[in-house]
Amino acid sequence: MSAARPAGEKPVRSGTSLGITAAKKVYANRSRLSEIQRLPVRYRMSEALIDPDLLPNMYLSNHVKQIFDLYPRVLSTYSTVMGDPELREAMARFFTRQQGIAVSAEELMITTGSQQAIDLVSRSLLKPGDTVLIERPTYSPAIDVFLNQNIRLIPIEITSEGYDLAQVEQFMKQEKPRLFYMNPTFHNPTGFTVPASQRKLLVELAERYQCILVEDDVYP
Ligand SMILES: Cc1ncc(COP(=O)(O)O)c(C=O)c1O
Repeated sequence: MSAARPAGEKPVRSGTSLGITAAKKVYANRSRLSEIQRLPVRYRMSEALIDPDLLPNMYLSNHVKQIFDLYPRVLSTYSTVMGDPELREAMARFFTRQQGIAVSAEELMITTGSQQAIDLVSRSLLKPGDTVLIERPTYSPAIDVFLNQNIRLIPIEITSEGYDLAQVEQFMKQEKPRLFYMNPTFHNPTGFTVPASQRKLLVELAERYQCILVEDDVYP
């Protein structure tokens, strides 16, 4: 488990366009997702993509037009580091009223997709050599993010009964993981939702062993 250069791979020159092209190639070759995507399969379970016919395209297109009328300069500027304040206010209202999670806009940060969020969590909370629990199977780009930062990964089986909490406790006690990265609601690719009773016990374990629970709630 190391981000060291694989044998035969040339060092990447930085600061030149050749460096950037080579870096992209190295990244694509190292990424587990692209490795999985190259396999010849009939059903590709590594991607969770929506059928485009199910998207409310007409509504979205009308809405985007309204945004350009309201904010004609929106495409020619950067947002703030934390993300658009109006969006964060709207999300805070959504979480508080509809999800029962009382958060303020100041506590929310908008990222460019989950991978950036996982990367930020990993870089701010972990250091090389730390241990992280992940589900097996899990979202493969998360594996890439953690391995690229030299994190030691321990898989937790996710079965039709959910997690084996005795196993989780044993790992938390012995291996002292800093965090558990999980997708407990409509888990990809099994579709499993961890029952409330297990979640409660999991939170108790996490508190007891000081392990941060990072929930990737991509399908709320
Ligand atoms: C568990 C999980 N997290 C994140 C994502 C991707 O999310 P985003 O498009 O926001 O990067 C997926 C998509 O397959 C996923 O299954």
